[in-house]
Amino acid sequence: MLAFFGNVHAQHTLFIPDTLSGTSFNLDVHRDSIRLKTGRITQSLGINSYHYFGPTIILRKGDSVSLTVNNHIGDTTTMHWHGLHVAPSNDGGPQSMIMDGMDWTPRFVVRNRAATYWYHPHMMAKTAEQAMKGDVGLILVRDNEEAALTLPRRYGLDDFPIVVQSLELDTFNQFMPKGMKDSVVLVNGTDTPMVSMPAQVVRMRMLNGSGERTFNFGFTANKHFKIIANDNGLLRTPVDVTRIWLSPGERVEILIDLSGMQGQTIHLKSYASEIPMGVQGGPTMPMPPGSPDMNSPLNGVDFNILQINIGAQTASPVTTIPTSLVADTPLIASMANAHRTIHMTADSMMVMDGPFYFNGNTFDMMRIDYKIPLNNIEIWTLLDSTMVAHPFHLHDVHFYILDRNGVAPSPQEAGRKDVVLIKPNETVRFIAQFTDFADTTTPYMYHCHILMHEDDGMMGQFLVGDYPNKINQPSTMPLSIKPNPAGNELTIESDCFNGTQKPVVVVAQPDGRIVNVNTTFIDGRITVNTSDLCSGLYFVSVKSGSYTGTATFVKE
Ligand code: C2O
Ligand code: CU
Ligand code: CU
Repeated sequence: MLAFFGNVHAQHTLFIPDTLSGTSFNLDVHRDSIRLKTGRITQSLGINSYHYFGPTIILRKGDSVSLTVNNHIGDTTTMHWHGLHVAPSNDGGPQSMIMDGMDWTPRFVVRNRAATYWYHPHMMAKTAEQAMKGDVGLILVRDNEEAALTLPRRYGLDDFPIVVQSLELDTFNQFMPKGMKDSVVLVNGTDTPMVSMPAQVVRMRMLNGSGERTFNFGFTANKHFKIIANDNGLLRTPVDVTRIWLSPGERVEILIDLSGMQGQTIHLKSYASEIPMGVQGGPTMPMPPGSPDMNSPLNGVDFNILQINIGAQTASPVTTIPTSLVADTPLIASMANAHRTIHMTADSMMVMDGPFYFNGNTFDMMRIDYKIPLNNIEIWTLLDSTMVAHPFHLHDVHFYILDRNGVAPSPQEAGRKDVVLIKPNETVRFIAQFTDFADTTTPYMYHCHILMHEDDGMMGQFLVGDYPNKINQPSTMPLSIKPNPAGNELTIESDCFNGTQKPVVVVAQPDGRIVNVNTTFIDGRITVNTSDLCSGLYFVSVKSGSYTGTATFVKE
């Protein structure tokens, strides 16, 4: 058993981010720095008053909410509400660019069940960099079903956010977003963390926010715990386990009974010696000559993640664990009316660091991979023919895993999911229904949640088809661009422009790079001179008073 962290460095008190609640939220994303290691400070991205990491957003199911994201990071970004079922224009995918100095104000009704979700940027080719620098936070959804159960829900007292991220720092202590020799494990942005928890039933909301690593979580002495929720909702009944695998993007909520243990110390650990080779976190694979160095000291060994000092009980402690949780009726295979297959491959069987492909393709913003009729119930078959495992994530809706290599999922994977890990040579089938939101222009994403794979193009996009019964929720300022495709000039109009005040106009390439254009504002209409632009896809972001809107155009 190795315990790198506890032995080498002093313990730091676990950071518990503050919560934001209500119906309107403000996230100010900015450049910052933190002191992670002795020596140089580490350049980071902070949110609101934090230097690294963001506040926890608490949403109530049924509430109509608006979120404003102000971008002060000196680069283009986006903000995605991972796991939330929202219209594509509110989803914060790579299309919903927020240029530096601009803001974005999605509005939506919270439709998800009580569970633990999260937010992070989704900027094309830059998600790893921006997320690993700290631009990440949790979202807790509460609902009446959850509130009716006797569960710990006092945030920071008996209900703890546990966001685990492993990262690599270079010799100057700077984040290496694509580094595969990660040796630093942070919990809520805290290095070598310790926390005190009361001697009663406590709840932990666990997210693997790493770029690449899968953890095999467990506690000292194989202490049992109960899984009560996975990605998108509470399970029907708690599942008793001593381990839970979490690949990047996956969440679970667990209950652990610490009754009678006051004065003791236990550790949350990753029992990575039990992870097989091929799953990132297991033993390092033998490398063919010329491969990148992937030999992280965390690979294939057990290590401590969080020291838990067990203290006195709180007032009115929860001391029992419910035997049943919520009703949920999974979709079943016979309900499906469409099937899709996604084959994950690489240039050869020896490739360990990508690029990896979905059906031979890398991501192309100009290509829509699937057009899905609204309300379709679909079975997606995912097959991994590469040497490494891939956590597959679907935007828009949750899914139910039907089987892994033909075998029904374990009970803790049987609930509502939005990420599923596919191991080498494995075939996983899931079923999902594409309800509520249709939009013929803005797509949703699906991708590998290993951030470097995603950034390298292991991503695709789908439109959900337009039908009359869709929920129409235009979030931001609608912009009309003519002509599109554009020649040497285009015009932008919107009902939200007010009078004679010239709106701010920023044009960027799909990689977020800003391009200089001349604009004029006459008769309530913006004219953009596009004569110097190369042909291709562009994003235009317009700010007028309190409205912002983003749209795309193609230069011929
Ligand atoms: Cu957590 Cu498409 O992302
Ligand atoms: Cu997502
Ligand atoms: Cu992958």
